[in-house]
Amino acid sequence: MPNDTAFVPHPVRADILAIALAGLTASPKTLPAMLFYDDEGCRLFYEITRLPEYYLTRTETALLSSLGSAVVPDGFHDAVLVEFGGSDEAKARILLDRADSPFTTYVPIDVAGPAMTDMQARLSEIHPALTVVPVVADFMQPLSLPLPAGPRMGFFPGSTIGNLDPVSATRFLTAARESLGSDSWFLLGADLRKSPKILLPAYNDASGVTAAFNLNMLLRLNREAGADFELDRFRHEAVWNDRESRIEMHLFSTKDQVVSVGGQDIAFREGESIHTENSYKHTREKLISIAAEAGWAIYQAWEDPAGLFGVMLFRAG
Ligand code: AVJ
Repeated sequence: MPNDTAFVPHPVRADILAIALAGLTASPKTLPAMLFYDDEGCRLFYEITRLPEYYLTRTETALLSSLGSAVVPDGFHDAVLVEFGGSDEAKARILLDRADSPFTTYVPIDVAGPAMTDMQARLSEIHPALTVVPVVADFMQPLSLPLPAGPRMGFFPGSTIGNLDPVSATRFLTAARESLGSDSWFLLGADLRKSPKILLPAYNDASGVTAAFNLNMLLRLNREAGADFELDRFRHEAVWNDRESRIEMHLFSTKDQVVSVGGQDIAFREGESIHTENSYKHTREKLISIAAEAGWAIYQAWEDPAGLFGVMLFRAG
């Protein structure tokens, strides 16, 4: 298969105003987390992953590295690695760089087309024999993937699954199983439920990087949706919702105000929030039951020594 890019239709700039207005005219007000990731948002997220309080990325990376070939099923060879949301090869390289890697094809799926083209160039230098087929698409939509024959492994690291409520997570995992086919496996990396004493600092970091990341969504709407948000009139705060078992990211209006978004007036009361993200923190058992509902049978589960983060391998069952 040639190293080219499969272009699949996905939401573009023109949709951003409609997406923003749908959320801002709802009650309570929301904006979808996918709007975080413009260039500046991607840069800020990378900074988040290096914060002392944000244990997720470094814990998952260390765990995956220490597990080595244990995360790959026995007898796997000439296999395809399909990463959902893969515009950065860092996690995949933990698997692909191993001398005993069974993967001959890597299929990252992400809306960030240019980032994937850069990644493809880097990977072809490091792994000339690896076929890289980026798919520019929203991985939440059902996809017909250009996969060669042979065994497949879906890869969903980074606790991205935490952005999905349990019903959406089941729906996503069902669609992923259908895209991957019956001869497939799925490797999931997910942050685990734990004390809010550890969770809250990870999302309300002392240096304010997460605040900048959250507020950047308003800057993006100013630029791309004709909005006039004043950033000093909103305040970032992440809160723990114990009943739903999730961290919620909010932007709280610090005063009564009216903001224009694409010509439409949106009124805010002092203290009213825009809910920008959910980050679910499930137990290992809950994650296994969500996957089971989607037709994935647990094969093996691991966590780091402190029990912060989980890596789970499933088989299409
Ligand atoms: C990329 C969704 C895994 O929920 O921890 C980090 C995003 N938001 N800090 C997470 C995020 C605020 C992150 N995920």
